[in-house]
Amino acid sequence: MSAGTEATTKTDLFSPISLGDLTLPNRVIMAPLTRNRAAMPGNVPQAMNATYYAQRAGAGLIISEATQVSPEGIGYPATPGIHSEEQVQGWRAVNDAVHAQGGRLFVQLWYCGRISHPDLLPDNRQPVSASAIKPDGDAFTYEGLKPFVEPRALRTDEIPGIVDQYRQAAVCARDAGFDGVEIHAANGYLLDQFLRDGTNRRDDRYGGSLENRTRLLMEVLSAVLETWEPARVGVRISPENPYNDIHDSDPQATFNYVTGALGGKGLGYLHVVEGDMMSGERSLDYRQIRDQFDGCYMANTGYDKARAQAVIAGGDADMVSFGQLYLANPDLVARFKADAELNAPDPDTFYGGDETGYTDYPALA
Ligand code: PHB
Repeated sequence: MSAGTEATTKTDLFSPISLGDLTLPNRVIMAPLTRNRAAMPGNVPQAMNATYYAQRAGAGLIISEATQVSPEGIGYPATPGIHSEEQVQGWRAVNDAVHAQGGRLFVQLWYCGRISHPDLLPDNRQPVSASAIKPDGDAFTYEGLKPFVEPRALRTDEIPGIVDQYRQAAVCARDAGFDGVEIHAANGYLLDQFLRDGTNRRDDRYGGSLENRTRLLMEVLSAVLETWEPARVGVRISPENPYNDIHDSDPQATFNYVTGALGGKGLGYLHVVEGDMMSGERSLDYRQIRDQFDGCYMANTGYDKARAQAVIAGGDADMVSFGQLYLANPDLVARFKADAELNAPDPDTFYGGDETGYTDYPALA
């Protein structure tokens, strides 16, 4: 661990950890979870979103659901944005509610790229990506599932405009009262489409070599660092997750390189989706990926309390993020501490809808 990210007491899930001047009271992190419950039109955070996040303020840190940096970045109905004044106001109310409960909230900055559909985009535009390679599968549109379309490869001269959208979103995030930001470079969305060679066949300075494939992420990071202290910035990667039909010919080498490039900057944390998000299978050596990076390592995917305690005790992670467990257990830290039973998540209410399956999971009596 680097300066500014030191553990302060005995190292277990319930010991504090510092990201610069921000102290997390524990290492039980709420993972980003798409819930499709922003108010439409406008994709604006609303009162039930504030209630949901405030219920989970006991987390060491909450990472928001993926949040598009611009109207062009969207890929699903009713996901929130962080680009309009209404959205900034909506998020400010969410942050006020979380802070009133003593919590901390980072916003996850998202651009979907080819995982979108003309139905969702301004002027029914064609989605963009690193290269014109269509993903297998279907987009979630307002009218239900529709097959993905072939994306348009971004021109080199368009890339500064993409970076600008992140720069603006980082400013909006500060105005909205967030405690920090996480750059979403995982799970087959735009930044990941540049990182992995299955989707990046470019021959300009954003394709080919590892340095070139990593360039867009590094430019986005620099833009975000114009507004945020490095310790308030995390980056999420998913080296071998095939979700959204993405792959790389040598993920160990690719992501050893990526995390090395992210090192030495005093960033708050590296957030790693370990293995295949759906099956849990994994084959990479995550210790190598971690060793390239000098900040805190946040492990994700398939952890329960016992496995999280083990990975922290063994020095393989500094924090662990929980998705479905946090979705269903607003007081997850208290339940872990008490070894209490956990509520089971209801997949039927994960995406979209109202308070049911959102703010009505009970806390311990
Ligand atoms: C999803 O909506 O399925 C989704 C969004 C963001 C992710 C992963 C999955 O990082």
